[in-house]
Amino acid sequence: MKIVRTVAELRATVRAARSGGGRIGLVPTMGALHDGHLALVRRARDVSGFVVVSLFVNPTQFNDPVDLARYPRDEASDAALLRGADADVLFAPPVEEVYPPGFATSVEVAGLTAPLEGAMRGPEHFRGVATVVTKLLNMAQPDDAYFGQKDAQQALVIRRLVRDLDLPVRIEIHPTVRESDGLAMSSRNARLDQAARRRAPAISRALRAVEAAVAEGGHDAAVALAAGAAILAEAKIVPEYFSAVSAETLEPVARITDETLIAIAANVGGIRLIDNVLVHPGSHER
Ligand code: PAJ
Repeated sequence: MKIVRTVAELRATVRAARSGGGRIGLVPTMGALHDGHLALVRRARDVSGFVVVSLFVNPTQFNDPVDLARYPRDEASDAALLRGADADVLFAPPVEEVYPPGFATSVEVAGLTAPLEGAMRGPEHFRGVATVVTKLLNMAQPDDAYFGQKDAQQALVIRRLVRDLDLPVRIEIHPTVRESDGLAMSSRNARLDQAARRRAPAISRALRAVEAAVAEGGHDAAVALAAGAAILAEAKIVPEYFSAVSAETLEPVARITDETLIAIAANVGGIRLIDNVLVHPGSHER
């Protein structure tokens, strides 16, 4: 696996790979890699063939400088995991390579970025995500780029910006990878203390309860959410939001008649966790 730090080196490496006729896949990450990230890398290897993984802790998407400073950084261990997953290139640029002095442009996706995580984390979060993802897509110029359903709103924002800006890339969203007890894998899980780690799976159990209520024909969103709320209450988890929203527009829905995103954010023992499930009325699939 080649490690590159500049856009010029990245472009040269990608150009050489493409001249061999293969597709290029990009997996953007902020490092602190776990099996969720690695599933995206393996999928990119299977579908695209040549895999570029970017590792960049993007300062512009953090609303809290303390959170940015505390973000786990261990490039050597991430690189080892990526070698194991058979990635071809690790693109790990310094901050100045991505945001040189005088940098002044940003990408703003209206509407989709307002509710849920946008409301909790402020407008700079998705502006930072949209801007850096647009840049990474332009830097690597992949045929395919892979993102996780774990960050459902981010996935929608990226699909929208790619469509709106006519970026020539296919976006693929990978299902959420979970621990055996259902907890969605996240770089933050390592920061849960023992008691919080025991309570945290109630989040995915609550989502499954909503999914089951809908599968049984419960189309009233408030009633379906109540089934999940009971499980959260039992685990003494007070969600920041626990909502049924349109899977397309993220607007709240009262009746679950089309594909609906059940999204939750909750602070468990001081660690903020998010998770979601897509429900389809009349079916029980994810
Ligand atoms: P990061 O949190 O490192 O996540 C990188 C990618 O891995 C994202 O597409 C995320 O949705 C996916 N991912 C994380 N946990 C997952 C899980 N349990 N199952 C499946 N996929 C999972 O998301 C970001 O970085 C940044 O916002 C980024 C897109 C890189 C822009 O800076």
